[in-house]
Amino acid sequence: MKAIAILTSGGDAPGMNAAIRAVTRSALNRDIAVYGVREGWQGLIDDRMTRLSARDVGGIIQIGGTFLGSARSKEFREEGGRSKALRNLATRGIDALVVIGGNGSQTGSAALHGVGFPVVGIASTIDNDLYGTDVTIGCDTAINVTVGAIDNLRTTGSSHTRAFLVETMGRNCGYLAMMAGLAGGAEVISTPEFEVSAFEIAERLRAAYERGKTHAIVVLAEGVKENAARIMQYFESNGGMAGFELRATVLGHVVRGAPPTAFDRLLATRLGVAALTSLAEGVSGVLIGEQRGEITRTPLAEIAGRTKPISTNLIELARVLAK
Ligand code: F6P
Repeated sequence: MKAIAILTSGGDAPGMNAAIRAVTRSALNRDIAVYGVREGWQGLIDDRMTRLSARDVGGIIQIGGTFLGSARSKEFREEGGRSKALRNLATRGIDALVVIGGNGSQTGSAALHGVGFPVVGIASTIDNDLYGTDVTIGCDTAINVTVGAIDNLRTTGSSHTRAFLVETMGRNCGYLAMMAGLAGGAEVISTPEFEVSAFEIAERLRAAYERGKTHAIVVLAEGVKENAARIMQYFESNGGMAGFELRATVLGHVVRGAPPTAFDRLLATRLGVAALTSLAEGVSGVLIGEQRGEITRTPLAEIAGRTKPISTNLIELARVLAK
């Protein structure tokens, strides 16, 4: 193997830069040239790539986002887009590709590998919904940002005897909301998998108020049907039913742009090195992830288009701890 390309695709995630650094330096260490592709699959189609040196990936381990840029490409979903990408890889003499990203991105990896080009995926998304790994790069940071927001809102909530609705990201997966809610001591956690109705939220807030609480936190995952705006509307038309005065905060992309935690930097570094090792051993067509503390290689064909459910035990835990 003489040259590889690396790209980041889909929603950016804190730790992507650390993964790019790890892949690049591991490759250079084996005298393999590295091309950094700009803005994901679209950059591959448009042939926007440059050689990366060890210096090019210096000073980025602590920075969120991805210095290569990221995008969601419609063209790559078409066979024509994939053919253009393959031609560009061949013209430059690139032997393999490393794709850092989540579900949609790794479905793209599976498609490219399916036509015979060696691809290795690295599990990275703040949503942690990727099949074939227990953890994904970026999720720990997003949890920590959400928990920081919860802590701050609880402080001001206590001063004013208020309850806060805190809506975080996660697309259709409740993992981020669930873990942040548990770590932040939330009174209610509502996720797409275990949605709590506005009526039930009101009941639980009233009960918390009657137990003498001076604040309450309701964490909502992005994918719930009754989101912060709809719950606020519900409470406004049923004034005072929660006991507390209510406010809502929608965190949105704030949870995605933070500097990576040490956990995410280490995970990204380990997965990045493992991706290169896999290619060097002649193993491609796999997602590099971590399961039960071990680095794993799961066939891309198995993970494409699939998501990982969150544990049902967590919701029960959240309910007990909210008392
Ligand atoms: O997949 C990561 C994620 O941040 C999701 O949590 C969210 O639903 C989505 O991306 C937002 O996408 P965009 O940045 O394109 O608005």
